[in-house]
Amino acid sequence: MNATNSPLSPNGPQLSELVAGTMTWGEWGANYSTAEQADLIGHCLELGITTFDHADIYGDYSTEEGFGRALDQHGTGVRAQLQLVTKCGIQLETSRRPDTYVKHYNSSHAHIMASAERSLTNLRTDYLDLLLLHRPDPLMEVDEIARAFTELRNAGKVRHFGVSNFTPGQFALLADGVELVTNQVECHPMHPDPLFDGTYDQCQRRGIRPMVWSPLGGSDYFKGDGTAVLRLRAKVQEIAGAYGVEEDVVLLAWCRRHPTGPLPVLGTTKKERLNRSVRALDLQLERQHWFEILEAGRGYEVA
Ligand SMILES: NC(=O)c1ccc[n+]([C@@H]2O[C@H](COP(=O)([O-])OP(=O)(O)OC[C@H]3O[C@@H](n4cnc5c(N)ncnc54)[C@H](OP(=O)(O)O)[C@@H]3O)[C@@H](O)[C@H]2O)c1
Repeated sequence: MNATNSPLSPNGPQLSELVAGTMTWGEWGANYSTAEQADLIGHCLELGITTFDHADIYGDYSTEEGFGRALDQHGTGVRAQLQLVTKCGIQLETSRRPDTYVKHYNSSHAHIMASAERSLTNLRTDYLDLLLLHRPDPLMEVDEIARAFTELRNAGKVRHFGVSNFTPGQFALLADGVELVTNQVECHPMHPDPLFDGTYDQCQRRGIRPMVWSPLGGSDYFKGDGTAVLRLRAKVQEIAGAYGVEEDVVLLAWCRRHPTGPLPVLGTTKKERLNRSVRALDLQLERQHWFEILEAGRGYEVA
């Protein structure tokens, strides 16, 4: 298979070019059993998709634990063959966290340390390859975050750190105090904002690769029936036909075409769609096709 791992930034972790997103593997989606998740993990590894994207909150705080049980079925040797990414910083209001009475963000030292420890336990691992702050916390204090990250790194519990959904200004603020290896952001033709709001420019200047969530636009692309999505789908279908591939392959190739080398975080829970996804690694979209898709996604031509 084609996927080979490469660095996310000059000193960053070696991740697979496509990342398996686990958000809907458990309670928030497919509700797979331990055996089904173990099977899916094995399938991803066979495809060369060796990096798995988590968050403490997925499945209402249950998905990491389910994944950890499934990983256990592969035996201890498997850990060295894969990379675990997880996130912290969102606190959900749920019966599983009775002390939280309003959804909020928390980037305090105590919360980062506690959340990382829980992720290690739930994922049944000694270390995380990458820990991301899930959302920018308006109350974040750089020194406090830096202290938590330094302690986790020195203890060998987390190897690298990054952020998600940060504006360039928020990224620069935190990067003054800590080495950040990525910004995981939403980017697809209906939401191409990181291409134009300075996010990707900043990545390119710093030599870091963005990770991209909802690279297909989430299920809206397939299920939506509004004018914008229908226009985009018609264009993507036309271009997919020209290359002799499926629509999702074109959307992933569109995502990857940017010079920063974005890593799509795949949302599918289906083996056949994962099989298809890797075909995007061999598809280089012609520049005008890339712009046609941008135009269809935004609904207007470039100036
Ligand atoms: N950092 C953040 O703030 C953040 C936010 C959201 C998500 N994420 C991460 O990003 C990952 C991906 O996000 P996403 O799920 O929005 O990504 P996506 O890949 O854009 O969308 C996946 C959705 O589309 C469906 N789908 C895929 N191919 C399809 C097809 N050919 N026909 C019909 N439906 C199709 C999938 O259903 P099936 O499972 O049935 O294929 C799934 O519901 C998540 O798992 C998570 O790890 C991060």
